[in-house]
Amino acid sequence: IPVDSFDLVLFGVTGDLARRKILPGLFHRFIVGQMPEDARVIGSARTDMDRAGFQNLVRTSLLEFAPETAKSNEALSAFLDRLDYVKVDATGDKGWSELVETLRPDVVRAFYLSVTPSLFGPIAANLSEHGIATPDSRIVVEKPFGRDLETSKALNAELRRCFDEHQIYRIDHYLGKETVQNLMALRFANSLWEPLWNSTHVDHVQITVSESLGVEGRGEYYNRSGAMRDMVQNHLVQLLCLTAMEPPSKLASNAVRDEKVKVIEALEPVPQSDIVRGQYRAVSGKDSYVEHAGDPNSLTESFIAMKINIGNWRWAGTPFYLRTGKKLRARSSEIAIVFRDPPHMIFPKMEGRRGNALIIRLQPDEGITLRTTIKEPGPGGMRLAEVTLDMTFAEALGEQAQAQDAYERLIMDVIRGDQTLFMRGDEVEAAWEWADPMIAGWEGAALRPAPYDAGSSGPEDALMLLHRDGRRWREIE
Ligand code: BG6
Repeated sequence: IPVDSFDLVLFGVTGDLARRKILPGLFHRFIVGQMPEDARVIGSARTDMDRAGFQNLVRTSLLEFAPETAKSNEALSAFLDRLDYVKVDATGDKGWSELVETLRPDVVRAFYLSVTPSLFGPIAANLSEHGIATPDSRIVVEKPFGRDLETSKALNAELRRCFDEHQIYRIDHYLGKETVQNLMALRFANSLWEPLWNSTHVDHVQITVSESLGVEGRGEYYNRSGAMRDMVQNHLVQLLCLTAMEPPSKLASNAVRDEKVKVIEALEPVPQSDIVRGQYRAVSGKDSYVEHAGDPNSLTESFIAMKINIGNWRWAGTPFYLRTGKKLRARSSEIAIVFRDPPHMIFPKMEGRRGNALIIRLQPDEGITLRTTIKEPGPGGMRLAEVTLDMTFAEALGEQAQAQDAYERLIMDVIRGDQTLFMRGDEVEAAWEWADPMIAGWEGAALRPAPYDAGSSGPEDALMLLHRDGRRWREIE
């Protein structure tokens, strides 16, 4: 479905995210015909460049990051025709009147701030003071949205000085992932699951976001963040919210976000004894975290696992175990809903039984698996076995499953004016409010993360977190 015509101003256009994700995303939407004939992308940065120079930069980026699509010269030049460039000084006065002249009056205006958060406020102020932002304009900001409650409140205040909440789009790209949205379809478009989706039937939930890459190249940023700030406060909390929230009354941005905020507010404080932090160490002498981070004494965690209790009627007594880390055995993300055992077993005890589970695989190989118990075929008596009913989106839906990248969908949602998949200000603040005391706990005591081998499943202690509750993690594979 084509969207309304727009002028999208992309600040920080020479940066890595713009070149790697945002521009290829826009290009794909252009190729599939979702960008109206006269829609335009206006690059903005402090680099001295003219329109041709900018087109060149975009051409090189697309050839590198969207090589398949950019192969067609015709499509590529047609897209480059939509581009313009205005040099602005984010914190000063230069360039803003040129930007005023470049923008058209009657189309959707979106300002995408792919810049360091300290520039959110100055850019927003300039857009407002120069009369560039209209009451219908949208402003899009990237994470990290603050590093604690205080800094996120300050960022919110800076943005709200110039924009209303309904104009602010805070990106969490996990919400743009196809399977993450499928979680909502799975829960609320089926009658099968929701009656079981509570502590009476669910023993526990495991949310894993495992990455095989390390922090190479981003060491400086990452070393100031760690896995908690970089992944848990945002992406994993969002996954937890979509899994745990009550059914919203309608699929409308505030109805969904209200329910997510309620979950975050119900998260109980997590004691340090329910948290395991890890840091990858070298295997065969290379690829250690401290080497990548350029800080031999770093206390930053590149892995974290924790046990979370949600203090509400639906989930009391059903822990949510979260884990995420870099340089682990595989790139693999999933949500596993593990059901309780039948109340009364009439069969002989089955060695190694894991029980029923519904597993939603986010990446790679997106799909859904249901682990179920059957009778082992053959004459051996009533011996039980566990099998999986597997569905991958690629097999079930073929071409259609060629999901668009998270950024493509999110950018188009901005133009449509749909905030459902963006974080509201109160939501981000509530997540920091929950995370802050934990972070203060380990930072205050200068706790050292447990070492784990690059390429492993994380520190041993993370296994214990479940073992001591009589449970075990699913394999990372
Ligand atoms: C980003 C984090 O938000 O998400 C990165 O800053 C992380 O550290 C990335 O690697 C993971 O995203 P994806 O889409 O590759 O799972």
